[in-house]
Order: sequence, then C-alpha cells, then structure tokens
Amino acid sequence: MDQRVVIVTGGAKGIGMACSRRFLSDGYSVVIADRDEVAGKAALAEFEAFEDRVRFFACNVADKLSVHNLIAETLSAFGHVDVVINNAGVALKGGILDLHDDDFDRVIAVNLKGAFLVSKAVIGHMVREIDNRDDRSRLSERSYCIINMSSINDELSLPDYLAYSVSKGGLRQMTKSMALELAPYGIRVNAIGPGSIKTDMLKSVVGNEAALAKIHARTPLGRIGHPDEIASVAAFLASEDASYMTGQVLYVDGGRMALNYTMEPTENN
Ligand SMILES: NC(=O)c1ccc[n+]([C@@H]2O[C@H](COP(=O)([O-])OP(=O)(O)OC[C@H]3O[C@@H](n4cnc5c(N)ncnc54)[C@H](O)[C@@H]3O)[C@@H](O)[C@H]2O)c1
Repeated sequence: MDQRVVIVTGGAKGIGMACSRRFLSDGYSVVIADRDEVAGKAALAEFEAFEDRVRFFACNVADKLSVHNLIAETLSAFGHVDVVINNAGVALKGGILDLHDDDFDRVIAVNLKGAFLVSKAVIGHMVREIDNRDDRSRLSERSYCIINMSSINDELSLPDYLAYSVSKGGLRQMTKSMALELAPYGIRVNAIGPGSIKTDMLKSVVGNEAALAKIHARTPLGRIGHPDEIASVAAFLASEDASYMTGQVLYVDGGRMALNYTMEPTENN
C-alpha cells in the first residue's frame, strides 16, 4: 500500500498537535493545517526528524479559497489523502442574552462550516480516486476516513457557550449524514467527543482550583484528560481495527457522559 496521508486541521497545537505527533509516529505522512503560522513552524521544528513526511500549510478552515489551496498543496506534496481530522475549533463565550452575532457566526464558521469545507474538498478527490479504480475489493485497504473532533457538548450543553454547543451538535449530525452518504464508497466518517482536555482551550481552568474542583466533580476518572488520550482514539478510528465503524461519536471524557449529578470529592481531587 502507498504511504498513508492524513490532514490534521488545527494540527499545530493542543489535541491537533497530539494527533500530528501520533500519526507521524504511526508512519503516516502528516499535513498540519493551521491558521497559526508561528505554532505551525514550531511544530515543524519539533518534527524535524520526519521532515520528508510532514508539511505545514497555513490555512483558515473557514475560508473556502484557503481550504482549496490546502488540498492543492497536499496533493502536490503527497499525491493523495487517506484521512482527515477536522479538529480546528474555537470557543467564544456567551449565551442567548449576551452573545454577539459576529461571535456566533465565527464559531459556526470555524467549527462547523470549516469541517464541511475541508471534508467536501477532500471527499471530491477520494470519490474520484475510488471511481477510477478497477478493483473495488482493494478499497478497504486504503481505509479512507474522516474524523470530526466534536465534544461532549454535542449532546450536553453549556449555557454560556451557546454557539460552541450548537456547532458541535451540528458536527455530530454532519458526521452521521456524511457516514450514510459515503458508506457506498467505503469512506468511514466518525467523531470523537472529548471531555475536558488539557490544552490552551482549557487554560482558564487549569491552575484555577475552584474551576478544577467543578470539573473533577463531574468526571468519574477524577482528572483532566491529556491530548495524547484523544490522539490514540483518532489513531484507532483511522486504523483497520475500526473498519466496521461509521457514523459514531466516541466520547473520551473520563466517564462524564455516564454521570448524573456529581462525584463525591476524593483525596485526589
Ligand atoms: N480541550 C478540550 O477540553 C476540548 C474538549 C472538547 C472538544 N475539544 C475540541 O478539540 C479541538 C481542538 O481543541 P484544543 O483543545 O486542542 O484547542 P487549541 O486551542 O489548543 O487548538 C486549536 C487549534 O486550532 C487552530 N485553529 C483555530 N481556528 C482555526 C481556523 N479557522 N483554521 C485553522 N486552524 C484553526 C488553532 O490555531 C489551534 O492550533 C476543537 O475542535 C475543540 O472544540 C476540545
């Protein structure tokens, strides 16, 4: 089989960076697509040992032309795409009483429409490649797949992060719709719903004892997750081990979705 290629949006920091690192170590060629050029260059410096298999392309997933350029640059560098991780995301605070229209639009544009634009551009290429093949039985070897980075908030909700919860609820539905439409091509589409993971997105919480105590009270495993614990699930979803999975959201949340009410405080939290 040819070298497998993955695009990781928002791949220069946090969960996306952990995915970039994991897929590189699993032998993939990795395209880091991120709007943060400083972080992208820092990621390339960290991955210097893999320089023939890693690229950084500056990209704003909310911008159609930027996405078009990303796919063109990826195809020019590596020839094809097997896996996309739609991970780029933003969280802007505000509920129905105080959220500004522009902030609503921005969150939806990045978290939901961004995943749509990137998927649409890549899937066009995947489907053409599949249609051109003589031997469809070899399709499963390629294991084309899309992984959407959703959230526990695609199902639970946060009153002061209305747009974020709406965007992730939409992403969950998009995961299912795409999975059904693309099943005949053998392209699998799944999502990951992380709980509270230690990244910049959670920086207001990390180091704040009261906020941490609230999270621990809602997390049966009693701790915040590490980005690598999300990357390992992405690696599973992209692998042959997940060959019969499509249209699913895997919640990686230390048990939060299963918990009604709160946990008793323990010595550890
Ligand atoms: N950290 C958590 O607790 C948590 C929980 C649930 C879901 N998530 C989801 O995981 C994903 C990654 O979050 P994170 O915690 O690593 O956040 P992060 O802020 O550490 O990283 C997000 C990355 O996305 C990039 N990005 C933002 N907007 C972009 C755009 N328009 N185009 C391209 N890149 C863009 C940023 O530059 C950054 O590198 C997000 O979709 C987020 O909603 C995170």
